[in-house]
Order: sequence, then structure tokens, then C-alpha cells
Amino acid sequence: MYPLHRPRRLRTTPAMRRLVSETEVRPRQLVLPMFVKEGASEAAEISSMPGVYQHTRDSLRKAAVEAVQAGVGGIMLFGVPAVRDAVGSGGTDPDGILNAALADLRAELGDSTVLMSDCCLDEFTDHGHCGVLAADGSVDNDATLEVYGEMAVAQARAGAHVVGPSGMMDGQIAFIRNALDAAGLQDTGILAYAAKYASAFYGPFRDAVESQLAGDRKTYQQDPANAREALREVQLDLAEGADMVMVKPALLYLDVLRAVAEISDVPVAAYQISGEYAMIEAAARNGWIDRERSILESLTSIRRAGADIVLTYWAVEAARWLDR
Ligand code: PBG
Repeated sequence: MYPLHRPRRLRTTPAMRRLVSETEVRPRQLVLPMFVKEGASEAAEISSMPGVYQHTRDSLRKAAVEAVQAGVGGIMLFGVPAVRDAVGSGGTDPDGILNAALADLRAELGDSTVLMSDCCLDEFTDHGHCGVLAADGSVDNDATLEVYGEMAVAQARAGAHVVGPSGMMDGQIAFIRNALDAAGLQDTGILAYAAKYASAFYGPFRDAVESQLAGDRKTYQQDPANAREALREVQLDLAEGADMVMVKPALLYLDVLRAVAEISDVPVAAYQISGEYAMIEAAARNGWIDRERSILESLTSIRRAGADIVLTYWAVEAARWLDR
């Protein structure tokens, strides 16, 4: 008779569980997405994302300093412009809200954190699409690349260490890399939103940036049914020179995240998006789940699936918990 195997032995005491734990979440692995709104006179809480704010340039600076002090690994900045147009001019304008706020943060924080910026047009266009439109109303891939190139250069000049193209246009990584290099910005990195799905769970984010989108993004973001296609997207982005690749959303796509982590030779990020945040916050408010445990479990699971870096609206709070 062979001995009864007892995996429970390794769960007997907190010290034992601590010793054998396979996955760690550290503050340095967490990136805080932040929103800055042009012309805002005070920070405004986003109703579908309790605890997350549309910042003024001033309140953004203060909150960013606190985030860095809490130990987060980086900041991903989104801008909410006062005026939008068909081509998203506010995104390429060096004085546009996102670029101005990037300059503020770089001046305040220097190289003490990794400053990242959303390199996408949806916040800046009056139609809300991530690119510019062709005459027939479709999103014009190659015309959009030209704008992304300009936008990336503006963001890098403003102070971004890393630009984050999130528009899912074909060829965006190579185009942006070339534009940055041509401008002498060889040291600016690219975090490619490589596998980004057309998700219903971006809903609260659209409130956060006051998105004007009427339709959907299904001609450029991926079908939730497809996993193999994500690997193709990642391989293309790697070949085009991505410095990091991302899967988004996170929790609903852990299988994709695992598959991407297995083929990527650069750091892999996952974006725990607004709807993931809102679901846990809402359930916790109702007393249906334990808030802190749920948040830490979700972050641990994203790391376990293969993410080196997690973008999460809980970055600061989680960093404080993890450091105590
Ligand atoms: C596009 C962008 C989106 C998010 C990040 N970048 C919205 C979209 O694709 O519709 C969503 C992030 C979130 O939901 O937290 N610039």
C-alpha cells in the first residue's frame, strides 16, 4: 500500500503557506491608469468607477506623487479634452491636455517612475473612434497611422518614457517606432496593446473619458471568441519592435494571457479594465464579496496567468496593502 498523499500538509500554517506560495504580486509590477481633464476646476469622481477621478492638472500631480510614494511601478495617463474634432487634433497638439499633463508629471517626477501615455485617438475625436474616418465612415487604418506617429512623438517630447498604442490599427507599432526614431527618440519605449478585445467591459472607461462613440469597435478590436488570432497580433507587434506587449481585458482573457506569456520574449502586461474594477466595487458595496480579498485574488490570478505587469485602478491601494 502506498502512503496516502496529503497536499494539505503544505497548507497547515500561515508560515507554511507563505513558504510554498508560487505567485507574488509586488507594488513595482502595478501600473496606475489616471485621467486628466482639460479645464476642470476640481477632481471629479467617475460615477461608474467609485474611487477613480478625472483629475485637474493640479490634483493629477499630487495623486501621481502619492502613487509613486506608494511604490507603484508606473503611471498610464489618459486625457479628456474640452474640444474634440474629426481628426483628434487635441492628441497631437503639444499643448493638448494629455501632452501638457505629461510634461507636468515628468517635471514633477523625473525618472522616479515609468510614465506612460495612451497613444490613441478615441478620447480626442468627436466621433469617438480610435482612428480617423474615410469618406465612407469606416476607420482608415493607414491615415490613422500618420496621426499616431505624430501623437507618439508629441507624447515622447512631452515626457512619456513609454507610449501605449491602444487603437489596434495594423502596423501601428512599426509606424510609431519609425516615427520616434526619425525624431531622435530612440529611448522612448512602446507598450503595445497587442491583443485587445472588443469588450463590453470598457463601459465605465467611456464615462471616464466622456467618449462620444455611438457604434462599436469591432472592425479593429478583436472578437472575444478568438484566441489564436491574439497570438498573431502579438507576433506581429513583436516583429514590429514592441518593447512590451499587453492583453486586455485581463480577467476574462487569462487563457489568452497565458498563451501570450508563453511566446513573448518581452515583458507581458495585462490591463484590469474599468468594467472589472466596477464589478468588484459594486459587489463589495453590496456586501456580497470581501473587497480587499477579491482585489488581491484578482491581481494574483492575473500574475499567475503570466502577466509581468498589471495595469489596475487599484494600484495604489493594493501597493499599500502589499507593503504592510
Ligand atoms: C482606447 C482605450 C480604451 C481603454 C483603454 N484605452 C477604451 C476602448 O478601447 O474602448 C479601456 C480601459 C478600461 O476600460 O479601463 N484609448
